[in-house]
Amino acid sequence: MSMGSKILAFGKAVPEKVVTNDDLAKIMDTSDEWITKRTGIKERRVVDESKGEGATSLAANAARAAFEQAKKLSPEDEIDVNDIDLLICSTATSDHLFPSTACMVQEELGIESCAAFDISAACSGFVYAMNIADSFIKSGQYKNVLIVSVDIMSRYVDWGDRSTAVLFGDGAGAAILKAVPSEYASFKSFYLNAKADKDRSLFLKNIYSSYPVKADEIDIKPDMVCMNGKAVYQFAVQALPDAIEKACEAAFVDPSTIDWVVPHQANYRILEGAAKRFGLSMDKFICNIDRYGNTSSASIPIAFYEAIEDGRIVKNGKKQKIVMAGFGAGLTWGATVIEF
Ligand code: UT7
Repeated sequence: MSMGSKILAFGKAVPEKVVTNDDLAKIMDTSDEWITKRTGIKERRVVDESKGEGATSLAANAARAAFEQAKKLSPEDEIDVNDIDLLICSTATSDHLFPSTACMVQEELGIESCAAFDISAACSGFVYAMNIADSFIKSGQYKNVLIVSVDIMSRYVDWGDRSTAVLFGDGAGAAILKAVPSEYASFKSFYLNAKADKDRSLFLKNIYSSYPVKADEIDIKPDMVCMNGKAVYQFAVQALPDAIEKACEAAFVDPSTIDWVVPHQANYRILEGAAKRFGLSMDKFICNIDRYGNTSSASIPIAFYEAIEDGRIVKNGKKQKIVMAGFGAGLTWGATVIEF
């Protein structure tokens, strides 16, 4: 029998500490008005390392929230942490270079034995991770996959640089996938892509690496996000619609008939552009950028989890067509069409 993956639930965990635009205006030359108008962001969450908050603890808490949501959404599946046979973490900001965050989350959750590894695809990481998980499930190798996506961007933003510091926040998301006969599978298509960021419009140089960022090495602060906002914006306004369109094409779905889009949350204006392109109302875009800023690979599962919890995305027997789409450093982008 051919198998596919059913998404049982999503999870979310964010740090307690809230940093508002007004808080930032006290430490840099910016304003709530500028940030809100240009990005849609009002506040973001930032970890308190002294309380032990970090990539591992947030990712583990997002996974716990996903198991709780699974009990409500899919009680018949009776999934438990010890049923997980593959754990994939997407992150660009792990607590340690090794062991992987996936292995550390495995320990936090008390999972005795499962395959575990990290992937790095920046803000597109969650979409990439879902495609990998789905392929493993289709191959028959694994049956219950936990995906955690976490990024602690606050460690790597230059808090003196208003052009990047105002954009990012910390957070973690999760999803649980289970092998089912393919006629019950959630995923209808995947589309992944990447192209070399030859102009180095978005990068984070490792402090210990001497590998040059550019042939003519420019003044770069290692271990801090370096971004040409305009160039990334131009990439993003093409990449997001491209991802949605290609994934819809592969699923034989007309984009204008999509019930929900759960996009990477980088800038509200980028989402408005995509909505306009497909003639979709902004009400169909799940958006929480005002409360969390850009949480990189965690943004899509956090948004999906919240949309289920607050009753926007409802499981009531009628299958809904939903697109999840991400884009980010690499440059990478991708999308998936699901029925949920
Ligand atoms: O996950 C993917 C990663 N990132 C993204 O997707 C980000 C993509 N880029 C963007 O979202 C936008 O380019 C930004 C929000 C980063 C910037 O918006 P923009 O409309 O492209 O502004 P800009 O860079 O053209 O800057 C306009 C002005 C400049 O001043 P002058 O030169 O016109 O006097 C900036 O210095 O705004 C100034 N500015 C600020 N002012 C107040 C830049 N950052 C700030 C700030 N507060 N935080």
